[in-house]
Amino acid sequence: MGDNAEVLGGAARTAADAVLDRWQRDPHALVQVLRETQAVTHYLPRPLLAHIAGALGLTLAHVEGVAGFYRFFHTRPVGGTRLLFSDNITDRMLGSEALLAQLCARLGVVPGEVDAQGLFSVDRCSCTGLCDQGPALLVNHHQVITRLDAARVDALADLLLAGTPVEQWPAAWFAVVDGVQRADLLLSGLAADAPTLPAVLARSPQALLDGVARSGLRGRGGAGFPTARKWQACRDAAGDLRVVVCNADEGEPGTFKDRVLLAVHADAVFDGMTVAARAIGAQQGFVYLRGEYRFLLPQLEEVLARRRAQGLLGRDACGVAGFDFNIAIHLGAGAYVCGEESALIESLEGKRGTPRIRPPFPVQAGYLGRPTVVNNVETFCAVAHIARRGGAWWAGIGTAQSTGTKIHSVSGDCARPGLYEYPLGTTIAQILADCGAGDVQAVQVGGPSGACVPASEFNRAIAFEDVPSAGAFMVFDRTRDLFEVARHFARFFAHESCGLCTPCRVGTELVVRRLDKLAHARGAGRASAFDIERLLDLDTVLHSGTHCGLGASACNPLRDTMRHFGDAYAQRSTAPQFQPDVDLDAELSSARRVTGRTDAGAHLHTDTPA
Ligand SMILES: Cc1cc2nc3c(=O)[nH]c(=O)nc-3n(C[C@H](O)[C@H](O)[C@H](O)COP(=O)(O)O)c2cc1C
Ligand code: SF4
Repeated sequence: MGDNAEVLGGAARTAADAVLDRWQRDPHALVQVLRETQAVTHYLPRPLLAHIAGALGLTLAHVEGVAGFYRFFHTRPVGGTRLLFSDNITDRMLGSEALLAQLCARLGVVPGEVDAQGLFSVDRCSCTGLCDQGPALLVNHHQVITRLDAARVDALADLLLAGTPVEQWPAAWFAVVDGVQRADLLLSGLAADAPTLPAVLARSPQALLDGVARSGLRGRGGAGFPTARKWQACRDAAGDLRVVVCNADEGEPGTFKDRVLLAVHADAVFDGMTVAARAIGAQQGFVYLRGEYRFLLPQLEEVLARRRAQGLLGRDACGVAGFDFNIAIHLGAGAYVCGEESALIESLEGKRGTPRIRPPFPVQAGYLGRPTVVNNVETFCAVAHIARRGGAWWAGIGTAQSTGTKIHSVSGDCARPGLYEYPLGTTIAQILADCGAGDVQAVQVGGPSGACVPASEFNRAIAFEDVPSAGAFMVFDRTRDLFEVARHFARFFAHESCGLCTPCRVGTELVVRRLDKLAHARGAGRASAFDIERLLDLDTVLHSGTHCGLGASACNPLRDTMRHFGDAYAQRSTAPQFQPDVDLDAELSSARRVTGRTDAGAHLHTDTPA
């Protein structure tokens, strides 16, 4: 330990040691070790990281690299109570920015900083998946407060200033409702007389796989890949050990269906994972739960413990001789890119969540090089139903190319936000009518990386062959400025870029800057047609030159809103020709200082004759 031992408090080291022991000093559990240690120590100072690195046999550089990657890890002191306002566009539409300003004013703290006494820090975070009951905020990454309003923020400030512990805050503040507005197959749950899981698993692995193939099920996480084809590839891959991962990262802003499935139908999700494990021959299962859903952890652990006690997990699971399968839950730490399956696997292995170069694909070499199937929460839930009622039954619902039902997380300008489940092929107009949305200008289907659909196209259907969706359905009425919506999403992508590839790291930032220029179009530095053309160039570069889906879809909102709401851009780009939005002469001042030039020739646009 050397010098570090002097700097590192004994209490922090003791807390870290307890966590390290719980994770059996497994270096692959690094993200979990950091998260649990920080829950006690509030932040992760360098000596503590060095201690953890030593205990796990890792370099300090590696551990610091991981701690620095995830937004929920702090390497500098933070407030004793840490408050993060959810910053989805729907939170903003509900007034989150004014509430954040109100709280900061009451606490005497600047957003993103700690107050003078080190008691509080207040900041923003990406969407917390509570858009139907926002504005929302996270308390110490651990709990959520929903339905914020001015009165609640005032009362919150009173409690914080009085030093009242979180445990004594009103319980009603932490209520998270399921908000199911329209249930079809999945949200209604398994029928009471449905066959048990052991009865289902009495079938051969091939029969289970054939059933999923017959259903035509396609993944619900966004890409819509045929589930049976993915499973078959994993089953066929070389290797003795296989892994099933449930992707519960649900980071796409505006999406909250997986939260409800895990809260209400966890058994169905775990059933689906167990069916997958049996079909592909896996021994190990993980749920990768986003850090924002930490509040679901105790109840999920309880369900898993019950299932182990019932013999549904563990050795000879479900009474199938030789089928040893168990499930562990790993938590994310506030990085949207970790929803991308190969980044998720890196994170599961305790590393930075950087997407992998493919091939090999996860089904060939995933978690620790083992063939790995990653599926979305809703996909596994669908499997639980298909395994009981048969593939042909599921294939009879929806359309020929898009079978079964789909759950939509509806938020924004409508009377009844919440979850709506329909057969695939249902029109956008139908969903709008059911959720009580009037005078609608556009719907963002599938989140920022999905599509912005204008009113003229509301007769289109949500289906893989028409408008595909990962589940978000954000409604914007005619009072909303779609340019500002696109600018908000652009900031989201720039914030969440993992930085691995230059077109995405730099390109997403350049998009934000140019949109900011359009937004502040006044005086010198007004935008022109030139700026619009550069935005289109950036769209091309990002779409074709980036390494993963985040970069590829980062300009989708920009492209869609430019196409459908071009006036919003035209009004903001009225300069007859390009105007720089920086003072170029002022920018050269440091060069003049360094070179000792004070003469007129060292200035741009000088009036002085040469
Ligand atoms: C930036 C990015 C974020 C993603 N986030 C999620 C997510 O939160 N949940 C999810 O299931 N899939 C997400 N995906 C898709 C996954 O990579 C993967 O395709 C999916 O989990 C596969 O499951 P499925 O076949 O059941 O859809 C994301 C992809 C990208 C590129
Ligand atoms: S596209 Fe963006 S998020 Fe994806 S790997 Fe490249 S830098 Fe990272």
